[in-house]
Amino acid sequence: MKLLVTPARKPLTGRCQPPGDKSVSHRLAILGGLAAGQTVITGYLDSADTHATLAAMAALGASVEHHDGEIRIDGGLGPVGRVTLDLGNSGTGVRLLAGALAGRPELFGSELTLIGDESLSRRPMGRIIEPLGAMGADLEGHAGCLPLRLRPSALQAIRYTPPVASAQIKSAVLLAGLAAQGETVLVEPGPSRDHTERLLPAFGVELEQHGNELRLRGGQRLRAGGFHVPGDLSSAAFILAAGLLVPGSELTVDNVGINPSRDGVLRILQAMGGDLAWQAERSVGAEPVGSARVRSARLAGIEIPPEWVPLAIDEFPVVMALAAVASGQTRISGAAELRVKESDRLAVMCRQLERLGVKVEETEDGACVHGGAIAGGEVDSCGDHRIAMSLAVLGLVAEAPVLIANAEWIRTSFPGFVDDLRALGAELEWQAEEDS
Ligand code: S3P
Repeated sequence: MKLLVTPARKPLTGRCQPPGDKSVSHRLAILGGLAAGQTVITGYLDSADTHATLAAMAALGASVEHHDGEIRIDGGLGPVGRVTLDLGNSGTGVRLLAGALAGRPELFGSELTLIGDESLSRRPMGRIIEPLGAMGADLEGHAGCLPLRLRPSALQAIRYTPPVASAQIKSAVLLAGLAAQGETVLVEPGPSRDHTERLLPAFGVELEQHGNELRLRGGQRLRAGGFHVPGDLSSAAFILAAGLLVPGSELTVDNVGINPSRDGVLRILQAMGGDLAWQAERSVGAEPVGSARVRSARLAGIEIPPEWVPLAIDEFPVVMALAAVASGQTRISGAAELRVKESDRLAVMCRQLERLGVKVEETEDGACVHGGAIAGGEVDSCGDHRIAMSLAVLGLVAEAPVLIANAEWIRTSFPGFVDDLRALGAELEWQAEEDS
């Protein structure tokens, strides 16, 4: 499907409630499936990625039921024999599951194959195969990528420092550590999102944290419970960006997770001159939650401190879109990880911005975006949900309509994106490929 975005003719105003947090939803599906008893989840993200993780837990023996917006998981896995688990587009789903399943005694004797779509099949899996292999996992990839063949087996705890700051690697090792013999020690090379550390204790698991060191004793049992998923700041970021760009706009995003290990985008937008304010008001399911308010403002390019990169790792496509409208230059460095996301986000964003008349210089680990006018025209998401939404935001302030090819990928994380923007006053329209 193509998405046609008409330049905004009026300010965006109102309130918006972002969909459930993708990272938290994946983790709840996995932990709920491992736990004894019934886990009840409200606010679970209703998207392709998070449904794939739920389906995987069901294929492994957990009972998963949907009741009036509630998801009920009766935990308890296997034995399942030979099973293929398709995680679609989801790096979080496949990497966390590989860790969670590698040592589960109830799955011993099973032969699991973890697969995904074309994009996921290109993404590096060596980063989890290596530490899980060191723990004794019987796990094999294909040239460091999917498919992953996994025969759950006995694991030994290790002390491990990942080569990059990554919540997915950290979480895969900690989840494997749950079933390992001994104490798993994970030393973080830099900060990354901490949802796993917040949720494990909520499932009754003891996890010690001393500075950048996490310690988890193997053999602990998980206790089911009730959880609410906060709104996803990574999805809210597109709405906030639209509010910043469209002149005269003022809007508020409610019930959004404002976890300090994820708030880099708010800091970046503010540093660019964005008129925005946010506040964590309460704790929901171990996560700080609040609201963020934004008013349109003239943005200026900045040099983004590399230490902010992991705190805003998923928001760089939209930051680059904002940089294309800001005055002056925005410099990004220390962001090579963007090349191994759902697409090579540095390369894809640079090419699409160029198609809209923006001057950019791509570097090995970043880019320099020169702000200016946005010409209309045709661009392509290249199968990446966050690129599609970033280009849609940019279309709101282009000189002519922007037509985005392969925009249906938005369903990966934010199926209500188009409806939510329309409700705030934007004009966007789906077009079947053959109609355009
Ligand atoms: C995620 C971690 C990040 C992020 C991804 C979700 C998670 O990946 O990009 O969208 O839920 O753990 P890395 O850990 O690889 O940086």
